Amino acid sequence: MNKDSPRNAFFVVMITALVCSSLVSAAVVVLRPIQLNNQMLDRSRNIMQLTGLLPGEQVIEDEDMLELYKSLDIRIINIDDAVYDEEIDPITFNTRLALNDPELSVSIPSELDLASLSRRTRFVPVYMVWDDDGLDRVILPVRGNGMWSMLYGYIALEPDFNTISGMTFYEQNETPGLGDQITHGHWLEQWQGRQVYDEEGKPRFRVNEGVVQPDSTAARFEVDALTGATVTADAVTSMVHYWFGPHGYQDFLRTLSESPTIRPSEDKP
Ligand SMILES: Cc1cc2nc3c(=O)[nH]c(=O)nc-3n(C[C@H](O)[C@H](O)[C@H](O)COP(=O)(O)O)c2cc1C
Repeated sequence: MNKDSPRNAFFVVMITALVCSSLVSAAVVVLRPIQLNNQMLDRSRNIMQLTGLLPGEQVIEDEDMLELYKSLDIRIINIDDAVYDEEIDPITFNTRLALNDPELSVSIPSELDLASLSRRTRFVPVYMVWDDDGLDRVILPVRGNGMWSMLYGYIALEPDFNTISGMTFYEQNETPGLGDQITHGHWLEQWQGRQVYDEEGKPRFRVNEGVVQPDSTAARFEVDALTGATVTADAVTSMVHYWFGPHGYQDFLRTLSESPTIRPSEDKP
């Protein structure tokens, strides 16, 4: 038999392709749970950072971080009805899957779609952080379209449901050195103490066009511009305006301030 025949060459190519594609598929299947676990871990770290519950400089092992995360008071809210939802399990609820489910998501009217999302889920998980005096902060997920990518983050608010106690972006794909400055710690630190709403209850927070003038009346709503990244910075402003506006958390936050959330009892399973 002629080893160099076209038929033989074809079989060798086919077998090589089959073996390679099987290896790639197997790797995807095997690595998927690890990838999901890493994503969960990364998100847990981001959320835990905003709780103010992490001990200073101490490094926390992955397992301990996940345990701390699971011990948080996580609840699902129904954004449209501005109430807590008791039916959905907050630990297993997958917002990205829910977004494709017409029962679990709504389309956003174009005139309100400031973050260019088209749709949002009706339900989201929120994180209530308690201390000895009561509710210490509430952590809310936000997302918005940046210049190149979807920006995913969390904003923590103080119990006045207006003052920002922290902000983090846990996923984005903006240009390194330009748009990805939104993930830089020293810029995010500026968010702390800024306010979302003005006296009339309108979302007023924004990324400034330049450096914030500390003496200006608007300073309490502003953080510094990002050099060379105005497109991403404006997207961040629009994202905050959407999520804290009438189609976002505004009604829920009003409900929270009018009828305070009951702290879960310590012996809750
Ligand atoms: C290859 C390339 C990538 C860019 N990536 C970003 C980005 O991720 N975010 C952003 O806001 N601007 C990005 N820009 C710059 C924008 O086009 C725009 O010039 C900038 O946002 C304006 O900001 P400035 O007013 O601070 O100069 C990028 C530009 C180029 C050429």
